[in-house]
Amino acid sequence: MHVIRRKGWEIPEREATPEHLFLNRRSLIKGAGAIGAGLILPTGLAAAATDQYPAKRNEAYKLDRDLTPENVASRYNNFYEFGLSKNVYTNIDTLKPTPWKLKIDGLIEKPIEIDAEDLIKAMTLEERLYRHRCVEAWSMTVPWTGFSLKKLVDYAKPTSAAKFIRFETFQDTKMAPAQRGFFPWPYIEAVTMAEANNDLALMVTGAYGKPLAKVFGAPLRLHLPWKYGFKSIKSIVKISFVDKRPETFWETSGPGEYGFWANVNPQVPHPRWSQANEEVIGTGDRRPTLLFNGYAEYVADLYKGLEKEKLYI
Ligand code: MTE
Repeated sequence: MHVIRRKGWEIPEREATPEHLFLNRRSLIKGAGAIGAGLILPTGLAAAATDQYPAKRNEAYKLDRDLTPENVASRYNNFYEFGLSKNVYTNIDTLKPTPWKLKIDGLIEKPIEIDAEDLIKAMTLEERLYRHRCVEAWSMTVPWTGFSLKKLVDYAKPTSAAKFIRFETFQDTKMAPAQRGFFPWPYIEAVTMAEANNDLALMVTGAYGKPLAKVFGAPLRLHLPWKYGFKSIKSIVKISFVDKRPETFWETSGPGEYGFWANVNPQVPHPRWSQANEEVIGTGDRRPTLLFNGYAEYVADLYKGLEKEKLYI
């Protein structure tokens, strides 16, 4: 039987964006100035910010545009465990990010089980301003807090047999009733070890100078700014070091449209829409999309010799 499955980014671009119209644009505060001014309380922020926030900003990563105001970024989210619309903030309360058991296993010296809070406390956090480009042709700019994924690699002590890292989101229909749907839950993503050891790959523990709000994937998510946003898996419960390329959530759901690599490239269209430019959420502007989302100088070398792979889907 042929089943038509309609995903958020399967709708045409012109239909995919109007949800943000419910935002009163005139009330949006443009630019970074207002961020941190204490005007905005993100939905579902973990109860108390620890003394790790705000973390020192790593000035190595510069932006070419304004930050997206917090009240915009936290009300326009993809988190399919809580439904297919962008207004996840309206029904995210059932997500309980504390306590949060995290498992690290596979090809490592010794399996680890740790509460996410303890892992985060053991790390020195930093803030990075990153562009964030969704495959649906919209973008944001977010001040994430976290630690580089390579620090987690060092912590896990993989053996030389490890070739990929597989990340898994929780599966719990009490926390996320939408997981009863037809998708191949749980949400899975993966990177190569070389990608994991690239400094840009960030384990995110906070945003806007505070612990991560639920809508952003509390308590711990990934952010890979040179890839389409679906690679940046939220609310991670398991991290496995493996020798075979894992099957990922979107590649399994729509193999003709979403792949393993998913590097941003304006010249390679999605089968049903162009990736040449993007809507900057909260401003109404469109801007040209950049190769590797503007991070080519950091990551282009990772893909030398892999030209036969579908690197941009
Ligand atoms: N992670 C999980 N577990 N579930 C999801 O639905 N959506 C992905 C990614 N990570 C998703 C996820 C997609 S499509 C995008 S664009 C980003 O999260 C959105 O992140 P944001 O809501 O912080 O902007």
